[in-house]
Amino acid sequence: MNTTTGRIAQVMAHVRTQIHQRSLVTGARLPSVRAQAQLLKVSVSTVVEAYERLVAEGLILAKAGSGYYVQGSVAPLDLRQAGAPQDRAIDPLWISRQALEGDAQMLRPGCGWLPPQWLFEDGMRRALRTVARAEVDSLSEYATPLGLPPLRLLLARRMAAMGLEATPEQIVLTESGTQAIDLICRLFLQAGDTVLVDDPCYFNFHALLKAHRVKVVGVPYTEHGPDLQAFQAALLEHQPRLYVTNAGIHNPTGATLSPVVAHRLLKLIDGSDLVVVEDDIFADFELTAAARLSVFDGLERVIHIGSFSKTLSASVRVGYIAAKPEWLEALVDLKIATTFAGGRLAQELVWHALTDSGYRKHVEAMRVRLAQAMQIVVPKLQALGIEPWLLPSAGIFVWCRLPAGCDAAQVAQACLQQGLVLAPGNAFSLSQNAGDSLRFNVAQCLDERVFAVLARVLTASN
Ligand SMILES: Cc1ncc(COP(=O)(O)O)c(C=O)c1O
Repeated sequence: MNTTTGRIAQVMAHVRTQIHQRSLVTGARLPSVRAQAQLLKVSVSTVVEAYERLVAEGLILAKAGSGYYVQGSVAPLDLRQAGAPQDRAIDPLWISRQALEGDAQMLRPGCGWLPPQWLFEDGMRRALRTVARAEVDSLSEYATPLGLPPLRLLLARRMAAMGLEATPEQIVLTESGTQAIDLICRLFLQAGDTVLVDDPCYFNFHALLKAHRVKVVGVPYTEHGPDLQAFQAALLEHQPRLYVTNAGIHNPTGATLSPVVAHRLLKLIDGSDLVVVEDDIFADFELTAAARLSVFDGLERVIHIGSFSKTLSASVRVGYIAAKPEWLEALVDLKIATTFAGGRLAQELVWHALTDSGYRKHVEAMRVRLAQAMQIVVPKLQALGIEPWLLPSAGIFVWCRLPAGCDAAQVAQACLQQGLVLAPGNAFSLSQNAGDSLRFNVAQCLDERVFAVLARVLTASN
């Protein structure tokens, strides 16, 4: 498409993408005609024509003598457009939709949760019976703004056990881990701010941050945590407002943060404006507790969040945030503004389940079962030429490379046709350099059909 029309369309597409990806936000000035022409290696008249057409479309406006600006009211946010640009078919929302929507017959080695039979079904049923007999308030009232006091006390004790000092008044219950991050984004971010994430990271961080219209910058994740050189460079170049990461077991790599990296990272951010969000959703899967940024930092600039979706129930929606008092107060106000209050019923259920005498045994058995699943699944993947990036110390995920020449997105699409939902690497990677990787959930890989389908698809794609 080397015609003038083609070149004009190319400039228009470039500007549209930048606006959709929030690299150019409302009110931002576009590069000058001359600079854009140089950047895209086209003539000045091509850029002028492209800009004028975008003005006619209402996407940008021209200010006489000053330049071109992103129009005040941009098109409604389209998260599909905001996804991985090189691969529209498979973006962060692709996996969520496939894993959440697929019919019950589908096999889901790519999904991020345990099969229902692995969860604390007996305990949840006991909790339901207990709550059904409780006073009517539990069944019908809003929760208090911070959330159910005994559950916050229990969480404060669990945090103290891992060395994190937080009073129950420093803990607010949310509807989920996702809502916890959303509230924190609402508190700290403005459109156009920069947020650091791990590359790769949990794919829904990308989707959620795009919804907040911020610029997202990826920092490569190593076996011991974020690459500190890259982290420092990103800190200097972008002055990010937030860094969103996992505590303990990292999604998708299964790596864990080392104490040295945790300590150095906190030193790096000393004196900056950066706030760290540490998502501890996999805490109960750990055999030995890894380093927590929040523990070293004492909740000064680190906010600690979590939820019960992975170990108790994703159906009963409860998450939490632990933060320093002044931030916590603001988060509680935001929670009221955006959801009014939490549901008391869900909080009561979680509290009864966590204090059930069988919960500790259930969690211990689940860890053993997961370790066994890891031992069974990894060699089976290796037999197909699918190699783990590292052997996780615990948890549900193993991050793997496909045999040379295989494209994870194509493999995932082909497997989907055969009833298998996979999690292709680039959905987790901002830099899009994980096109040969897949995340496997070992608990969802214990059905032989998983390997039969993979073998068929890999043979066909070689
Ligand atoms: C790292 C991470 N954080 C948060 C969530 C979502 O948690 P919730 O169900 O509490 O919204 C997930 C779900 O897969 C996750 O993997």
